[in-house]
Amino acid sequence: MKMTKYRSHQPGDASEMEALFVSVFTQSEGEAEGTMVGKLVKEMLAETEPCDVQGFVAVDGERIVGAILFTRLTFEQDVEAFLLSPVAIASEQQGRGVGQGLINFGLQELKQRGVRIVTTYGDPAYYGKVGFQPLSQDDIPPPYELSQPVGWIGQSLTDHPIEPIPGRCSCVKALSDPVYW
Ligand SMILES: CC(C)(COP(=O)(O)OP(=O)(O)OC[C@H]1O[C@@H](n2cnc3c(N)ncnc32)[C@H](O)[C@@H]1OP(=O)(O)O)[C@@H](O)C(=O)NCCC(=O)NCCS
Repeated sequence: MKMTKYRSHQPGDASEMEALFVSVFTQSEGEAEGTMVGKLVKEMLAETEPCDVQGFVAVDGERIVGAILFTRLTFEQDVEAFLLSPVAIASEQQGRGVGQGLINFGLQELKQRGVRIVTTYGDPAYYGKVGFQPLSQDDIPPPYELSQPVGWIGQSLTDHPIEPIPGRCSCVKALSDPVYW
């Protein structure tokens, strides 16, 4: 039996990661969403400074069966913060713990790299399983106005709870479009 392994993404993974996102989101949300997420992932990988994007993949044999991207959030205050988005697990591998395993692997790696805060914008029921809790927009401002404020969630990777970060927040260029928020 093949075992799923987790590792950091490498430059040569880009097209396979993009294809995975297109396929998974097309199956779960439809073709338009699949195309949009594929474009987002392509731009994130091609146009973001390497220090501002951290990607991780789940590999089954030679094949990438899961992928996740974290990109930098910049605040007026100097704080190491990343946003988790998007995540995709190959359709036939969903519901077996690969998603939670990959997210936890990525969070551990980021912690070792000195990241202090990770936020995401997604389903609190799912991301609550891997440590994310509701964020107040007054305490941690999102980069854009949120269409679904309940989805703004985060966690501290240090021993201390998240403290408010006053001032504006900005995200990487690939996510700098209100359509994603
Ligand atoms: C969402 C996704 C990343 C989860 O990965 P996964 O490997 O299937 O999930 P896991 O096996 O790690 O976790 C399964 C658990 O999460 C729950 N879960 C899975 N998808 C969920 C969702 N969209 N909302 C709420 N809960 C969800 C399952 O009910 C299960 O709960 P249980 O452990 O109590 O039984 C994956 O299903 C996927 O790629 N979906 C399509 C793309 C997507 O929606 N990505 C997330 C938004 S960026």
